[in-house]
Amino acid sequence: MDRRFCGLAAALLLLVLLLPIAAAALPHRAASNATGAQINSNSVLVALLDSHYTELAELVEKALLLQSLEDAVGRHNLTIFAPRNEALERDLDPEFRRFLLEPRNLRSLQTLLLSHIVPARLGSPQWPLPDSRPARHPTLGSDPVHLSVAPGSGLPAVDSAEVVRPDDVVRPDGVIHGIQRLLIPRAVQEDFNRRRSLRSIAAVIPEGAPEVDPRTHRLKKPAPPAPAGSAPALPIYDAMAPGPSLAPAPAPGPDGPRGHFHGEALVKDFIHTLLHYGGYNEMADILVNLTSLAVEMGRLVSEGYVLTVLAPNDEAMAKLTTDQLSEPGAPEQIVYYHIIPEYQTEESMYNAVRRFGKVRYDTLRLPHKMVAQEADGSVKFGQGDGSAYLFDPDIYTDGRISVQGIDGVLFPAEETAPASTTAAEKKVVKVVAKPREGS
Ligand SMILES: *[C@@H]1O[C@H](CO)[C@@H](O)[C@H](O)[C@H]1NC(C)=O
Ligand SMILES: *[C@@H]1O[C@H](CO)[C@@H](O)[C@H](O)[C@H]1NC(C)=O
Ligand SMILES: *[C@@H]1O[C@H](CO)[C@@H](O)[C@H](O)[C@H]1NC(C)=O
Repeated sequence: MDRRFCGLAAALLLLVLLLPIAAAALPHRAASNATGAQINSNSVLVALLDSHYTELAELVEKALLLQSLEDAVGRHNLTIFAPRNEALERDLDPEFRRFLLEPRNLRSLQTLLLSHIVPARLGSPQWPLPDSRPARHPTLGSDPVHLSVAPGSGLPAVDSAEVVRPDDVVRPDGVIHGIQRLLIPRAVQEDFNRRRSLRSIAAVIPEGAPEVDPRTHRLKKPAPPAPAGSAPALPIYDAMAPGPSLAPAPAPGPDGPRGHFHGEALVKDFIHTLLHYGGYNEMADILVNLTSLAVEMGRLVSEGYVLTVLAPNDEAMAKLTTDQLSEPGAPEQIVYYHIIPEYQTEESMYNAVRRFGKVRYDTLRLPHKMVAQEADGSVKFGQGDGSAYLFDPDIYTDGRISVQGIDGVLFPAEETAPASTTAAEKKVVKVVAKPREGS
């Protein structure tokens, strides 16, 4: 309720404030309903909130901008120029910071933040060449930004800020560049100056001695463009064996084509963990029995992909009917729907649903997605009857495979309705799980 009110307040303020771009997005938000707008879990916006740009993420939340940004990212890619944490803490005039955080100056804060966001995808290849004219791009805020190459350092720059981490976070719907300092739109600077009724003072403290980044213990300098957690260039669907589950995938050699990771070993490891954890024998059994599936998972992980497995517990599996299991390929399809091609932990999923309400995850069962939302202080997957709670968090997490225990078996939305209600319900299969010592 609170959240809805905040969203409404933000929407109203923005309506007054913003360029046609954002204004156009708002009626959509107003019209959206329960099945409408949901953000993708691999969205750049979700990534921002989980990134090391914690100061910026906090301000975006304080500025009540999440809802309108969620709309914006639904219609175009976003490029976010993210000031380093220090730029928003130590380097910022404390008086200016206080000004921004005063509730009555919410509009200034929003303008400031939106001026760091361009409604288009500008990766580092889109930067102008060193000697060419700066490229101007409208932002969601009041002022445009100008991309150039700083003559001194040769670093890419946006207005007066050097881009110290180009392409720091790359997602299908946008990109985040780390920048050296805050960009302050003129309107905000003027507001601030007016409020202080003093003569104009630059809000940013002049640069002092060279700094060491306390997090990395390195001098602040351009970091290698190695976006954390980014998958191999090829989308996972292109890397999967054709017709999931049908053709047995060719067994990979001990070190697969790009065997940076021992995928097969990790898959074995997590199945073991699942067996020893207790209460997940059915799922573990299926994974052991369907060897092609385990091999396929191992191969994907070997090639650098990451996976999150939502494992239904034994009670949930016992409720499956013969009908649901007897179709050829049905167990594979069920398992593929429970695999998310991202590395998610309980914390990351909970944070995402808490902030966005609903989050949509891709699954390996193309093109079906899975919706998650916050419920009872936990994460609930699926909707209505066919939903399941995150029940045993982080059963297995090794950085590449994450296994989360859930208390229901999930089906894509279109399939839940008919089958389960009638006679089929009675033909419940009780699959007896054999304990499997040390296999
Ligand atoms: C919800 O929104 C979608 C798209 O905006 C629309 O197609 C659908 O009919 C709406 N559903 C309801 C129940 O209003
Ligand atoms: C975002 O950019 C990607 C890559 O350029 C493109 O495929 C995609 O369609 C864009 N999304 C939107 C909403 O414009
Ligand atoms: C796994 O295979 C064994 C032996 O073939 C079979 O008895 C068991 O029911 C299978 N389990 C599942 C969950 O398919």
